[in-house]
Amino acid sequence: MRTIFVTGGAGFIGSAFIHLILETTTDVEIVDFDALTYAGNPENLKGLDPARHRFVKGDICDKAAVLDALPDGAEAVFNFAAESHVDRSISSAGEFVLTNVLGTQVLLDAARAKKVKRFVQISTDEVMGSLPDDSNLYFTELSPLKPNSPYAASKAAAEHFVRAARETFGLDTVITRCGNNYGPRQFPEKLIPLMIANAMNDEPLPVYGDGRNVRDWIYVEDHARAIWLACERGRAGEIYNIGARNEQYNIDVVKTILDILGKPHSLIKFVADRLGHDRRYAIEADKTENELGWRPLTSWEDGLRRTIDWYRENQAWVDHIRNGAYRDYYRKMYGELS
Ligand code: NAD
Ligand code: TYD
Repeated sequence: MRTIFVTGGAGFIGSAFIHLILETTTDVEIVDFDALTYAGNPENLKGLDPARHRFVKGDICDKAAVLDALPDGAEAVFNFAAESHVDRSISSAGEFVLTNVLGTQVLLDAARAKKVKRFVQISTDEVMGSLPDDSNLYFTELSPLKPNSPYAASKAAAEHFVRAARETFGLDTVITRCGNNYGPRQFPEKLIPLMIANAMNDEPLPVYGDGRNVRDWIYVEDHARAIWLACERGRAGEIYNIGARNEQYNIDVVKTILDILGKPHSLIKFVADRLGHDRRYAIEADKTENELGWRPLTSWEDGLRRTIDWYRENQAWVDHIRNGAYRDYYRKMYGELS
């Protein structure tokens, strides 16, 4: 058995990654280290084989807890743990600096101390800032880092510490930078699940600004598979951009969700724009496709339908979140839920 250490495994992408690895390999066991913040949800880990998945509750900023949980000579660390929502980073950046920057450094130190074979940092295209509207420019691995939100700045800072661990100490590192993910189990503060949840409840769908911001969407399982291949086949010290060549205007995403759910476009409500709102993200994934032999397998149409079906079938999962601290968050961000 090869042991991997996954942080943030109770969140959206981390849990998708764990489900995928346990389903598609037979020789990998996982230590899943997660602080269970508002975004971490034990329900995301239901049904996993306990012989191959061990959950440890802990904070990646807590050096002693990390050293205690991280097995000696582990095959790899996959660092998914993060504060991940741009709007929250605009309201309060402190937690982003702690978890995303300090937490990453704690993990890098622990990986060296425990002689981990490879450190995989899950980063984001947002570190590269914003592309001009309707241009034929794309993010590549050589694009300069120009983060615009506190979230993106913290993820860019984390990348610098990963690079420094490689250059200074020779730690074997790989960085992946993916675009916007969607799929089952995404916390409904993010665009797609928020719009699905509101539409299912006949509540207004708050679209920021003119709705013409562009995001490059990828189904979460395709991202998870690329991360695994980056670890298995990627070159040490390299960065791999991950994207499915699927640029969409926000307003079109929202209208498509309403159409699939059979709800009226009159539910759309244009609201004040996000501060510093990045206009367009678009990823060129040639390096990842060529070097790792990866391709996205899920089309936008299938992925969105599967995602909507999941939220329809898991109304209890959504209600559980919407009945908790989320209500206060939503009220502060948008006013009342209905
Ligand atoms: P998420 O917010 O759904 O989950 C984050 C997880 O990290 C939660 O389970 C939470 O409990 C855990 N966590 C937070 N702080 C922690 C701490 N201090 N110690 C231990 N665990 C902690 O996030 P996500 O959308 O699944 O994103 C996962 C990673 O992927 C992040 O690093 C994010 O930057 C990156 N990413 C996300 C996207 C996207 O579209 N969501 C795109 C590209 C990259
Ligand atoms: P989000 O899911 O927060 O991801 P990110 O900001 O990391 O790209 O937002 C995706 C896009 O949707 C972004 O342009 C902001 C926009 N958006 C809205 O218009 N309304 C909303 O309520 C939310 C959460 C996002």
